[in-house]
Amino acid sequence: MNILGIETSCDETAVSIIKGNADKIKVLSDIVSSQIKIHKKYGGVVPEVAARKHVEQILPTMIKAFKKAKILRPLPADKKLNLDAIAVTIGPGLITSLMVGIETAKTLAYTWNIPVIGINHIEGHIYANFIDNIKIKFPALVLTISGGHTMLVLMKDHGKYKTIGETRDDAAGEAFDKAAKLMNIGYPGGPAISTYAKKYKITNSKNRIILPRPMITSKNYDFSFSGLKTALMYEIKKNPNYKKQIANYCYEFQQSIIDVLIQKTIRAMKEFKINTIMLSGGVSANMELRKQMKIALKSNNKNINFLIPDLKYCTDNAVMIATAGYYKIKSNLKTEQKTKKWQKLKVNCNLKL
Ligand code: KG4
Ligand code: ZN
Repeated sequence: MNILGIETSCDETAVSIIKGNADKIKVLSDIVSSQIKIHKKYGGVVPEVAARKHVEQILPTMIKAFKKAKILRPLPADKKLNLDAIAVTIGPGLITSLMVGIETAKTLAYTWNIPVIGINHIEGHIYANFIDNIKIKFPALVLTISGGHTMLVLMKDHGKYKTIGETRDDAAGEAFDKAAKLMNIGYPGGPAISTYAKKYKITNSKNRIILPRPMITSKNYDFSFSGLKTALMYEIKKNPNYKKQIANYCYEFQQSIIDVLIQKTIRAMKEFKINTIMLSGGVSANMELRKQMKIALKSNNKNINFLIPDLKYCTDNAVMIATAGYYKIKSNLKTEQKTKKWQKLKVNCNLKL
């Protein structure tokens, strides 16, 4: 079954074609046109600029994806169409950006008369874990950490989610981005902070900066990262030479987020009977988090399956959207979404999991 995936919820225009069958997902093409360079100068995504760029990029990106997949030409529609369905992100995200992907998907679904499946962006991130691991043992616990979300989700089966905790203010990725903006070290903040953090040598520093670990001991699975950013801001304000200690600040900021994420995940693993733990979302590209989480989980439960998406599938891409679409069809879920025709596809920028 060949599926076309489209993702335009934020600042990446992404198109992918996958071939799904009983035991594996084959990625035929995976094209991402990033707008990072454009938004960098503003220190964050400007919604109107993002939507305009998606309009410009969607067709060239689509054509590249079809060429790479070598399964057909997108236009003209005179050849036999070797495509079974379209999967497109319908939310959450920036409304006008989402609409570019959705309207493109609708147009193609109408032209080719094939089904179109609306995908929740967060669900897409979760399914990044299924691209290379088709047989995942449920129940699973998913730590979803992106620019817009920080959630701990229990996943009993395909399409069955229960959110047990989430951020009360800033998402983990948002905290990285805001902290990097405060220190003026670049956008997106996660990669910038982790690069500086690597330069910090914890053993030879007398002046180690200490930041709080927000909500680390709270008896729930919620998170809060806004205060951490404020604590960093006060530390910087009282130090006129802070520029010379950027690595120190970055190390501590990153470690605070890692400590909280690990603590809460371990506690959830112990409370619920879990077979598999997965990370998902842009922040799961953080190498220190990947390393430390693996060690911590294995030392608490050596039988746990721990999965992390391939680095290129942590941040926004369309392979994860196509994969989520494939599972929706394959699992024969009686979801409304599965049978939706293009006429019923609607954007929902606040879509919940
Ligand atoms: O999943 P994503 O591409 O988009 C959203 O759905 O939000 O995540 C983007 C977020 C940004 O906040 C970015 O700073 C963060 O992921 N990120 C990282 C790393 N790479 C990207 N955070 C920490 N470490 C990284 N290496
Ligand atoms: Zn995302």
